[in-house]
Amino acid sequence: MNRTKIRVNGTLLLGEDPASVSRAGSIIKRGGLVAFPTETVYGLGAASTNIEAVKRIFTAKGRPSDNPLIVHISHPGQLNQVVKSIPVGAHLLIEKFWPGPLSLVMPRAENIPALVSAGLSTVAVRMPNHPVALNLITASGVPIAAPSANRSGRPSPTTFNHVLEDLSGRIDAVIKSKVCPIGVESTVLDLTGPGPVILRPGGVTREELEEVLGCRVAVSGLKYSEGVPLAPGIKYRHYSPRAPLVLLTGPKNRRRLLIESVSLYYRRKGLRVGYLDRGFHKYLNSTTGYEELAARLYQNLRQMDARGVDLILAEEIEPIGLGLAIMNRLRKAASRVLKV
Ligand code: TXA
Ligand code: MG
Repeated sequence: MNRTKIRVNGTLLLGEDPASVSRAGSIIKRGGLVAFPTETVYGLGAASTNIEAVKRIFTAKGRPSDNPLIVHISHPGQLNQVVKSIPVGAHLLIEKFWPGPLSLVMPRAENIPALVSAGLSTVAVRMPNHPVALNLITASGVPIAAPSANRSGRPSPTTFNHVLEDLSGRIDAVIKSKVCPIGVESTVLDLTGPGPVILRPGGVTREELEEVLGCRVAVSGLKYSEGVPLAPGIKYRHYSPRAPLVLLTGPKNRRRLLIESVSLYYRRKGLRVGYLDRGFHKYLNSTTGYEELAARLYQNLRQMDARGVDLILAEEIEPIGLGLAIMNRLRKAASRVLKV
């Protein structure tokens, strides 16, 4: 790494080499904040057992204290430091999907402070599928509490530059790595109720979970048969770019007409419209390529800001496979969902 530029606004830029990861581990051990790569998005890590360090995560992100964090472990054997008991079905899921993009909500062990879980008696835990993340957890010697490493309300970071855009000067260090391959966050699956419930769709699909569990898996806010939210009203924006995003639903030909007329109207006024991933169009009626869409989603949202567009238009896709997670993020990013 270039020795002349190892800090950005005071935030240390670290490499992925063992010495740097070990240094990052020491920072976490001492109660500091380190952003690190995972297979989903970059996380902002702190020692999960250190209340002051966990408080700093909420401050650095500007995150409401009622939104719980995910605890990251480097080996399933660490689970007993984080959870009080392991619900039925968890072993199957762990065996099949860890390391990977699946966070399991289980009863919280006492040595994990309530603050980590925003006061809940449960805790979300996952083992990330990324060598740097795993080495960092091992080096820090403690399970790491980590939300996505963005300012609250902004799109999640899939590159270390995104992390610096949002958090330089607010955190101790960032481990500089490649782009996160999956690009959307982990699936959050609640195992504490009578049946498994997806609280947030993500990198492991509902279909994959159902196959392994051999039962239907509900999605919070969705009626099983419909695949659309029961209450689509967008109460607050999340994962949001600065320009307003309008998500178009309804028949394809009507969406097209609307896009053409809106684009013309904006152009005449000297304003710019961004289409969320022109590549979307070729995937609209197929699930192939959803991985590619997911991998680019947040980066594209941030690029819209960089290009200074005045309006972003996005179109719905099928909520199957990774499409469920993509639609969930689009709905949350949207300032308006327009049925044409
Ligand atoms: O892929 C990911 O999950 C990334 C990487 C860094 O691991 N992390 C991430 O964290 O996306 P965050 O904080 O941005 O999102 C955590 C989600 C939130 O929707 C939160 O409400 C939910 O997990 N969550 C965490 N603990 C929970 C709990 N005990 N009960 C219910 N939901 C929980
Ligand atoms: Mg987040």
